[in-house]
Amino acid sequence: MTSTPLSADAMKRAAAETALSHVTHGMRLGLGTGSTAAHFVDLLGARVREGLEVIGVPTSERTRLQAEALGIKLSTLDETPELDLTVDGADEFDSSLRLIKGGGGALLREKIVAAASTRMFVIADATKEVETLGAFPLPVEIDRFGARSTRIHIERVARGLGLLGPITQRMRAPDEPYLTDGGHYILDCAFSAIDAPQELAERLQAIPGVVDHGLFIGLATAIFIAGSNGVRIIGDNTGDGLI
Ligand code: 5RP
Repeated sequence: MTSTPLSADAMKRAAAETALSHVTHGMRLGLGTGSTAAHFVDLLGARVREGLEVIGVPTSERTRLQAEALGIKLSTLDETPELDLTVDGADEFDSSLRLIKGGGGALLREKIVAAASTRMFVIADATKEVETLGAFPLPVEIDRFGARSTRIHIERVARGLGLLGPITQRMRAPDEPYLTDGGHYILDCAFSAIDAPQELAERLQAIPGVVDHGLFIGLATAIFIAGSNGVRIIGDNTGDGLI
């Protein structure tokens, strides 16, 4: 029997549905950002209307507005500093559960929320799976103060690791820089292949002016990968070490 090819959007929703099946009454949830995470929030809203009680902490203003409109009870990390589970998308992931995130510009809040969570489920369609991270340009969030100097530091660090691809400031319009929810710039670093992501992460984080970067290492506990033949899970989706 041949399976019907699913659209990328249908795959994203399938991954979101499978992740949602792990959400239980009373959970404190981090709510991710992006088109895949939006499916999760949408499906969660439907479960909340049926009576599921959860508290959500959104990772962006966009997600906050969506969740609010769906009647999902929301909180902040100030009120609810420890979460049970964050469900979020990714721009790329590898078999070691390392991610590139930030295509939607929410990487800082996404990382803070994921780090506050016992577990992080990533939901994605199979096109996001890569052998080596870096085909998707790595977003680096920088403070506006001293942005040109910070960029030079980032270029030096990148060159030191043999990463020569172009670094481009993200723009909202031709003469209007993109600003994150926190009011920072984003540099998109088209490195092609990041052979030493941990080292790059450490070196970027050490640069004054770098607020954060889109390498998420050691945060995802499971990845729900939707393809035409269903949803495959890598990592630990139970939280008790069993798969
Ligand atoms: C936002 C993100 C998103 O999770 C990432 O960009 C994936 O988005 P999408 O689900 O739309 O492909 O990191 O900052």
